[in-house]
Amino acid sequence: MALIAPSILAADFANLQRDCEMVNQSEADWFHIDVMDGVFVPNISFGMPVISAINRHATKTMDVHLMIVQPERYINDFKAIGADILTVHYEASPHLHRTLQAITDADMKAGVALNPHTPVSLLKDVIQDIDLVCLMSVNPGFGGQKFIEKTYDKVRELKAMIVEANCSTLIEIDGGVGSGNAQKLIEAGADVLVAGSFVFKSENPTQTISDLKKA
Ligand code: DX5
Ligand code: ZN
Repeated sequence: MALIAPSILAADFANLQRDCEMVNQSEADWFHIDVMDGVFVPNISFGMPVISAINRHATKTMDVHLMIVQPERYINDFKAIGADILTVHYEASPHLHRTLQAITDADMKAGVALNPHTPVSLLKDVIQDIDLVCLMSVNPGFGGQKFIEKTYDKVRELKAMIVEANCSTLIEIDGGVGSGNAQKLIEAGADVLVAGSFVFKSENPTQTISDLKKA
């Protein structure tokens, strides 16, 4: 059974409290919160005030995915507004080891996200310092895109690396996740499924979360 992390990017921003409460009352495990800066990705989502507002209502783990350049500049700010897990992109972090250390020192779980073109093998020397690897199964920047099939191979390769290193890093899949691929992803070794459109655009989001939980 995987952890389910509905992505707030697909929520109704004019009804954020309602959507946060739906997630609280559902079988979801985490809130997935996407921060985009218009530089690292060609889109801008939301920033600190909105995340603070989510934190006032969310009763579950806040999993914050930074799609921003120089993420190391804001580590303490994200801690202050309620992030429990802070994920930075490999491609945005020339000093990844130092950044992971700073996230851990700030008392958050440290995550690394990989774009679809970035090989899993690049994490080999740092895997024991990572609490969560977020495999992007779409190109980051937008919700509602098509799942990239190559992701299954990356999950298997990453799982083998984690087992080999004897660590407990979680594998999270982000982008295009739904009932059509959830089970296969879990079989390949995924621990956390992020789902945006599939949950929030469905007729009954609570039920959709429950169905994903059973995958
Ligand atoms: C994409 C974001 C995802 C997005 C997923 O850049 O990182 O978290 O919200 O949305 P869906 O599930 O609609 O692909
Ligand atoms: Zn995300």
